[in-house]
Amino acid sequence: MNIMKTSLKFLFVSVLAVYTMSCEEQYPPTNLANNHIIPKPASVVATHGTFVLDKDAVIFYDSGNEDLKKNAGYLAGLLRPSTGFVIETKATSQNPGDGIYLTTGADKDSLLGEGGYELVISEKQVKISSPHPDGVFYGIQTVRQLLPADIESKDDTTREKWFLPTGRIRDWPEYQHRGAMLDVSRHFFGVETVKRFIDYLALYKFNVLHLHLSDDQGWRIEIESWPNLARHGGSTEVGGGEGGYYTKDDYKEIVEYAADHHITVIPEIDMPGHTNAALASYPELNCDGKARELYTGTKVGFSTLCTDKEIVYEFVDDVVREISELTPGPWFHIGGDESHSTDHDDYVRFVNRAREIVNSYGKKVIGWDEIAHADVNSEDVVQFWARENNALQGVKKGARVIMSPSSHAYMDIKYDSTTVLGLTWAGLTEVDDAYNWDPVALVDGIEKIDIIGVEAPLWTETIESLDDIEYMTFPRLPGYAEIGWTATENRFWEDYKVRLGKQKERFETMDVNYYKSPLVPWQDEEDIFIDEQKEGEVK
Ligand code: ACM
Repeated sequence: MNIMKTSLKFLFVSVLAVYTMSCEEQYPPTNLANNHIIPKPASVVATHGTFVLDKDAVIFYDSGNEDLKKNAGYLAGLLRPSTGFVIETKATSQNPGDGIYLTTGADKDSLLGEGGYELVISEKQVKISSPHPDGVFYGIQTVRQLLPADIESKDDTTREKWFLPTGRIRDWPEYQHRGAMLDVSRHFFGVETVKRFIDYLALYKFNVLHLHLSDDQGWRIEIESWPNLARHGGSTEVGGGEGGYYTKDDYKEIVEYAADHHITVIPEIDMPGHTNAALASYPELNCDGKARELYTGTKVGFSTLCTDKEIVYEFVDDVVREISELTPGPWFHIGGDESHSTDHDDYVRFVNRAREIVNSYGKKVIGWDEIAHADVNSEDVVQFWARENNALQGVKKGARVIMSPSSHAYMDIKYDSTTVLGLTWAGLTEVDDAYNWDPVALVDGIEKIDIIGVEAPLWTETIESLDDIEYMTFPRLPGYAEIGWTATENRFWEDYKVRLGKQKERFETMDVNYYKSPLVPWQDEEDIFIDEQKEGEVK
């Protein structure tokens, strides 16, 4: 009897679900204002109609614009697996009036800036315009999030029609630098894993991937003039695993994949501390001329390059030159943190010379907040992670700041005391703590104008796999995206947590291993549509 009842109930729920998903009046909601886009757009106006995407869709782009052509190909590729549609992309010299239309022919619009976009959805057309292809790419991510979660499916869903609510979104980023850092030194992650990480960044409109390429436990990039760095220094990792490193071709592949997703790679070679892997690979980098043993533990602060030796600066020069040649972005990160075994004056001298070397290869310097002790200037960026005084000193010398407060923005810090992965030295960072901070309110004396943006680092002492990366990253990552993109006055945890909860099915369709924080009202899409329909009935 009970089995009968359960089966009937199951049948009823299934029929309701199929009905809800297939009936055009109910799915989708036609109210663009009911979106759950992360990061939250600057302005949304709903016009309560529906655009239908089907197999006859065409993606148009401005003729002669190679970047938009790429964006069009990216969008067609994004839609291909789950829709099964082979969507044509076509150059056009004027607004075609229908289809999906990507254009940089927007009126010059000071609000949008380079990263902003306008998305106008009518019953006939989806038009994404921006002064710059970056903005068009962000508009594409917004369209992606307006479609149901199974747009992320790797398999053909056999759904014949996909719907978008009509209206207008005008949207632009609060900060120009919106990044995440992946430590590939403590544990090494191959090219495919890094690409997956880039996919996640792109979905939330990040534009920077900072790769922490060297540390005590491993050197992770081939340097032709110092081959033992990767060969020996990259041969292990925390816990004694086999480690690994990127060949130059691997690194180029990452940089190109990132660029295709409108993301700039910032390479970091951490120095003069955090250098045991290099010190183990070349004895001449040590003051005593003796190579160190490889290190597979997790202590910090015990290693230093010998700052008195000229050969050390030849090493730095070769490394910066070879990596800069492969890096189209403007930045080179010199680390500089926790050099506890370097005498203060030696540290300052070293950082000053490293800065000159980086500049000589046409790159600008970023370093952790300790580099503010050296002669930083308005060309340099100090990445605040620990000491407010350092960041403030950097600003007083003219440098600008990236905000990565370890108390909020470190994705390797445990969510709560039961989290198995991660560390606790910076406290615990639940999803609300990760979201509830304002870059401008962190350090007295540092103003908005001093801050280029925010970055969320993922250190990997305890992180060994893509599953681990995902678990610590999701669901904090979308929150960091919103801090970087959305103006503080438009951000509220109570509103954000609802939008985050509605990402549940997207995470699950993408096969993302995420932390189901009890603070977030996780919600299936079917329930969302039913709720929104009820809301519609009441109105
Ligand atoms: C750092 O967390 N040592 C920058």
